[in-house]
Amino acid sequence: MFARRNIVKTLLVLPGLGFLRVFLGYLGSLPEGKRPEFDDFDLVKDPRTSGEPLLGQREFAWVVSDQKGSYALLNRCTHLGCPVRFDTSSATFSCPCHGSVYSTKGEVLKGPAPRPLKRLKLIKVSESRLRALLASEVDPGFRL
Ligand code: FES
Repeated sequence: MFARRNIVKTLLVLPGLGFLRVFLGYLGSLPEGKRPEFDDFDLVKDPRTSGEPLLGQREFAWVVSDQKGSYALLNRCTHLGCPVRFDTSSATFSCPCHGSVYSTKGEVLKGPAPRPLKRLKLIKVSESRLRALLASEVDPGFRL
């Protein structure tokens, strides 16, 4: 289980949103009671650019980075909790269970989701690592 957490995740640069990067990863399957308290993100270098730092992604959250900073979103749909996925063609998060769609900021674009994706506190734990606190919730404007 933890080996999967160590798999390097796919990094995507969104077409048409050159400044915005969304990092996707494995959608965690741990039972709710076994969920860790945090999710760490390794800072990595983008091999396609001049070495600009990017953020790695783990099981339970996404980190979105844009010109204003970075923020983390819990990957759980606010309808009934299914893990939401990122659709690169539309640059949205979507829920496979009942079709809710969210913007990259986590805002609901299409229901039945009643609320935006939960924005998590993101802290820098070292020069090369960020941590999303899974039990936290911060203001939708929060950025690191
Ligand atoms: S659980 Fe996501 S739309 Fe129902």
